[in-house]
Amino acid sequence: MSYDLIVLGAGPGGYVAAERAGAMGKKVAIIEKSHLGGVCLNEGCIPSKTLLNSSKHYAQALHGAEFGVTCEGVRFDLPTVMKRKEKIIKSLRSGIAYQMKRYKIDVIEGAGELIERGKVRVGETVYEAANILIATGSTAIRIPIPGSDLPHVLTSREMLQIESLPRRLAVIGGGVIGMEFASFASDLGIDVTVIEMLPEIIPNFDEDIAQTLRKSLASVTFELGAKVVRIDDKQVHVEKDGKAQAIDADMVLMSVGRYPNVKGIGLENLGIATSRRGITIDEQMRTNIPGIYAVGDVTGMMQLAHTASRMGEVAVKVMFGQADRMRYHAIPWVVYTHPEVAGVGMTEGQALQAGRKVTVSKLPMKVNGRFLAENDSRAPGFCKVLVDAETQVLLGVHMIGSVCSEIVYGAAAMIEAELRVRDIRDIVFPHPTIGEVVRDAIWEMH
Ligand code: NAI
Repeated sequence: MSYDLIVLGAGPGGYVAAERAGAMGKKVAIIEKSHLGGVCLNEGCIPSKTLLNSSKHYAQALHGAEFGVTCEGVRFDLPTVMKRKEKIIKSLRSGIAYQMKRYKIDVIEGAGELIERGKVRVGETVYEAANILIATGSTAIRIPIPGSDLPHVLTSREMLQIESLPRRLAVIGGGVIGMEFASFASDLGIDVTVIEMLPEIIPNFDEDIAQTLRKSLASVTFELGAKVVRIDDKQVHVEKDGKAQAIDADMVLMSVGRYPNVKGIGLENLGIATSRRGITIDEQMRTNIPGIYAVGDVTGMMQLAHTASRMGEVAVKVMFGQADRMRYHAIPWVVYTHPEVAGVGMTEGQALQAGRKVTVSKLPMKVNGRFLAENDSRAPGFCKVLVDAETQVLLGVHMIGSVCSEIVYGAAAMIEAELRVRDIRDIVFPHPTIGEVVRDAIWEMH
């Protein structure tokens, strides 16, 4: 069987690329050894958001008195939460299957291995294609310390399948995954300790925002600048400021990053270049071997589902003769904690490091009518915008506060379009919305 494109891996990088190629009328096959949707749909973004939504409802039910709503007998029913999560996953999975059928894409179940240029083997069958796209994703890292393989030490994958809640949760790694689970558990009143080796959580974000998020999760204990040395049945042992410390935990989440899935897919059969990060690609998603492209987490460029999807689109356009290239500077980031964190573009720290002259404006969400109407009086929130001091072009927007995940794409569009302060001032925002905070922060610039 010969195809225009074979895609290896059906996550948001792979299945979006397959769809786009299918929509162009190309003959496409997609190979997947597990489920359609990849990590994002089956054991990542989507299930974690369903859990976080349930924990938010629970916390709101408990703390609604300020809004004039009081509830009694509030319970968090984990089996129902998990059942709902499974239902959502199945529904979205069948949506992807429908799209594959719609574009006449062959879905091949099994593990694919590249055997030579243009040839992929699945079991005993060899499939041929003019183009191959590798989108095999990444796997959670388990740090090689004593006890990291104990049954109560989980990665996000197992954490999304738990059958009972812990009393004390230790989170190793205060990055995106660690903070989302810390927020979930703290909503439920679980005793949470986050252990982070760097001096601050979510290290790639605006420092101001990271600090505000940390302070707003008031019931979570943070051990910053701490190194985990071993784990036993009851405790996580760390070193901090040269001193040994033990943290009680009956469940441990290991969220210290993810490594690219480069093994067992035949990269060595073709001599496809890799680095420590993953498969090496150019800005058009080409590997060093003609006809072979790679996108998403396996390239280690930016481990985000929406980045992978866009990379998939670029790869498909390029392989079928349309001009495009990948740009990473206007890709938004979100941490779905309560409160949410979202940002796009350069942070103040990055601007400083790059020696860029910038003007910064920061506005608290408390000036925003909709925010005040919908949040309790202690809810944190602000929006920070950065513009180039000379050209007045918008460089970055960083927010913390409710629903900022739903606002940030507007800011991403402004950065992608290289809008200037005066262009943004002409845009009409609906009132009252929390998104107005972006415009108002821009108006604060003189
Ligand atoms: P991460 O790279 O975001 O954070 C890992 C954290 O662990 C870092 O702060 C790091 O300093 C710390 N760390 C590393 N080794 C450590 C050690 N031995 N002891 C203590 N701390 C240690 O990785 P994470 O959270 O596992 O997420 C993996 C990827 O998945 C990220 O690239 C993230 O962007 C992506 N993701 C994105 C989501 C979103 O967009 N909302 C949600 C979940 C994951």
